[in-house]
Amino acid sequence: MLHPLNVDEVRQNALRIRDKVAEGTLDWFEELYASANGDEYWIPWSNGEPHPFLIEWVSKIQFTGRALVVGCGLGEDAVFLSRKGWDVTAFDISNSAIEWAKKNYPSEKIDWQVADLLSLPKDWISLFDLVVEVHILQAIPERLRTLAAPNLAPLLAPSGQLICIGRLNEKGEEYEGPPWPLSRNFIESVGIILKNIDFMKKQLPNDDKDVLRYRSVWERDF
Ligand SMILES: C[S@@+](CC[C@H](N)C(=O)[O-])C[C@H]1O[C@@H](n2cnc3c(N)ncnc32)[C@H](O)[C@@H]1O
Repeated sequence: MLHPLNVDEVRQNALRIRDKVAEGTLDWFEELYASANGDEYWIPWSNGEPHPFLIEWVSKIQFTGRALVVGCGLGEDAVFLSRKGWDVTAFDISNSAIEWAKKNYPSEKIDWQVADLLSLPKDWISLFDLVVEVHILQAIPERLRTLAAPNLAPLLAPSGQLICIGRLNEKGEEYEGPPWPLSRNFIESVGIILKNIDFMKKQLPNDDKDVLRYRSVWERDF
């Protein structure tokens, strides 16, 4: 579909939607997906591809098993893992995102779920060999982020791995998010009960010069 607008205008639209809802809620995600009406152009984070940092890490892993994709959006990371042989559950707080992902990938064997990272099903505890979080913690306001982050590590089965990918705030700068790039201290706190096995920071080829990204990976060693 041909669109006359540019990426900044799409982002402005996302911010306008966010500003319509009460400060500090997550409702704007559903509003954004629903109002996009099946047109990916209006989803500023969606480029139809799995994240390159995820691809790189998964290519090194010597095992498969049960994977959970947190805040899966339109499902690109979930589909990538499924095609790599993982048994994937993928969830998002937005019902419209999940319905859209199902429609985009009708033949994938993925367990698509509507769920909230702030209040996950109890039977997901210790269930997953891989938990993937791409751009979720940085997309939610700090008050909710600090409540949501501790819910990731307990999802891992013994020897399972947690992968978090996002933007890094190395210099303690103030951001008018979303997204809100995360401090190294905050990122470390996400896997505090786990063993950190990788921390990488780098840019993607088309990033502005002030954008820095991270990937942090932990393993459950108990
Ligand atoms: C910036 S988007 C990233 C989507 C996808 N991971 C990607 O990289 O394309 C953030 C996603 O997190 C979802 N989300 C936000 N808060 C959530 C929560 N508490 N529980 C589950 N999903 C959430 C949003 O609906 C949205 O799809």
